[in-house]
Amino acid sequence: MKLVLLGAPGAGKGTQADILCGEYNIPTISTGSILREAVKNGTPVGLKAKEFMDSGALVPDEVIIGIVKERLEQPDCEAGYILDGMPRTINQAQALEDGGVEIDAALSLEVLDETIVERMTGRRVCGECGAVYHVVSNPPETDGVCNACSGELKLRADDAPETVKQRLHIYHEQTEPLKDFYKSRGKLLLVEGRETIEETSREVKKALGL
Ligand code: AP5
Repeated sequence: MKLVLLGAPGAGKGTQADILCGEYNIPTISTGSILREAVKNGTPVGLKAKEFMDSGALVPDEVIIGIVKERLEQPDCEAGYILDGMPRTINQAQALEDGGVEIDAALSLEVLDETIVERMTGRRVCGECGAVYHVVSNPPETDGVCNACSGELKLRADDAPETVKQRLHIYHEQTEPLKDFYKSRGKLLLVEGRETIEETSREVKKALGL
């Protein structure tokens, strides 16, 4: 399975990617996670990406395309992968195609903007391992503590309400047109994001024929 996950910020792409990755043993390539790790480690890519991410803007295409091409060349991607958060612009999608990257499907999680704002407000992320929780829909066993590694759970820097608005604006302007891009190639699958993670997961698997 070579899958692209599309959807607004906070639509649940990372959550569904983690479920698929755990159940079917395929690697997830999350550009957001790769960039956050680079920022945390102060690498040259991280230093370049930080100000774009903090303001809710997209990191320049050339940075992203380089990161993803390099990652896709790793042996664990030979049998398949899930691209979470990339492509984000037509230019990135075109670069994948031009580089010979053929995907099987682009699955878009459809969630209303109002729901997105609620999800971002309640999201908590482990500062150590990056595991994602939600105070209502997916709470940790102990408040503020990661189930997996006991790390401290924090708000993500770009989940502040003003930054979320900016990220949604950019999504509608620059990323949503990718639905037409993949529709014209017969690869688009639309899945309505449901009220629970489990229901959404069932719909995702149904759409993928799993
Ligand atoms: P990235 O990390 O990719 O952020 P995003 O696309 O904005 O997506 P999120 O991680 O915010 O949300 P998600 O859809 O994964 O939702 P989640 O599963 O966490 O990118 C961050 C930044 O990096 C960008 O702004 C940009 O600057 C840069 N960047 C990254 N890729 C780039 C690219 N290709 N080009 C340029 N720049 C790039 O779920 C959200 C919350 O809801 C969680 O709390 C979860 O528990 C909960 N939840 C999930 N599903 C459900 C459900 N069905 N019901 C109830 N709650 C749910």
